[in-house]
Amino acid sequence: MPSSKGGTPGRARTAMRCGSGASPTRLGWESVHGPWLWVMARFCHIVAKRPTPWRVRIPDRGVRCTGNGPGGTSDPQELGMTTIGFIGSGNIGSTVARLAVAAGHDVVLSNSRGPQTLQDLVSELGPKARATTPAEAAAAGDIVVVTVPLRAYRDVPAEPLAGKVAIDTNNYYPERDGVFDELEDGSSTTGELLQKHLPQARVVKGFNNIWFEHLRSLARPAGSADRSVLPIAGDDAAAKQAVTELFDSLGFDTVDAGPLAENWRTQVDTPAYVNPYGTYGVLPGTPASIQLVREALAAAKPAA
Ligand SMILES: NC(=O)c1ccc[n+]([C@@H]2O[C@H](COP(=O)([O-])OP(=O)(O)OC[C@H]3O[C@@H](n4cnc5c(N)ncnc54)[C@H](OP(=O)(O)O)[C@@H]3O)[C@@H](O)[C@H]2O)c1
Repeated sequence: MPSSKGGTPGRARTAMRCGSGASPTRLGWESVHGPWLWVMARFCHIVAKRPTPWRVRIPDRGVRCTGNGPGGTSDPQELGMTTIGFIGSGNIGSTVARLAVAAGHDVVLSNSRGPQTLQDLVSELGPKARATTPAEAAAAGDIVVVTVPLRAYRDVPAEPLAGKVAIDTNNYYPERDGVFDELEDGSSTTGELLQKHLPQARVVKGFNNIWFEHLRSLARPAGSADRSVLPIAGDDAAAKQAVTELFDSLGFDTVDAGPLAENWRTQVDTPAYVNPYGTYGVLPGTPASIQLVREALAAAKPAA
């Protein structure tokens, strides 16, 4: 005799009825269809709870959608996949790739040593990830994350990035990268250097002011009270919009930090560098509100 204790009450009642040998006529329509009603109710509950897909507008390439987030569409005609290419797959690259796969994107990784050295990461990320050369990752990406040590920025392949949004995470550490006079004297910025190297790409500075571990730990769904804000800088409004939508899908809001000429506002040793998100090396970090990030950007001083 089935017990009505524990489990789903409705299911227990249904089991008792089924085990009783009572005929459909005696128990009526609801009893016969009870299990199906329960299954359909669960299905509707799951569908209703499923977040709407978000959308990323790739400049000149129409709307592309995938993953979960606000402001999306469920129109199958509009649904498609967004592929994120990576030139560099180290601390920042692999962290962004993990967030991207979690959000439903495809990722194409690359580094300097060759795709065979990225197999562990690809295995961890699963079927939405693959590794290839930098040129092929650049060609494959709808949006491409350039995340190499600054000293290597001239190796980034220009031709396959023509017309594409390139997110520049790079920071300048002279002890690591060598001395760049134009950065020392403040006549240029890291974002401008990459833009000059990729004249036909749409460079947007982003991800550069947050420690990669905080990037991982502070990602939150849209609408969360403790969602953090990341600044972006760039000269192309459509590219900034695409990056804003991408960041939204990854778990962050954005604030416009101005053109590439002003990306010194988030460079190393400014108030907006790491500080809004907590202390470098200390997890889990602290969520950074738009007000906090705006104040930090406003307090920054140019290099020279
Ligand atoms: N770490 C952070 O928390 C953080 C935060 C914000 C911004 N950033 C900045 O973001 C950039 C990347 O930082 P990271 O910490 O991720 O560095 P990382 O862990 O050292 O990774 C660098 C990646 O770039 C690849 N790479 C190096 N030279 C290359 C080349 N010529 N062509 C293609 N790929 C190349 C490396 O591949 P191989 O290993 O095969 O050489 C590696 O995958 C730096 O400019 C850094 O300052 C870092």
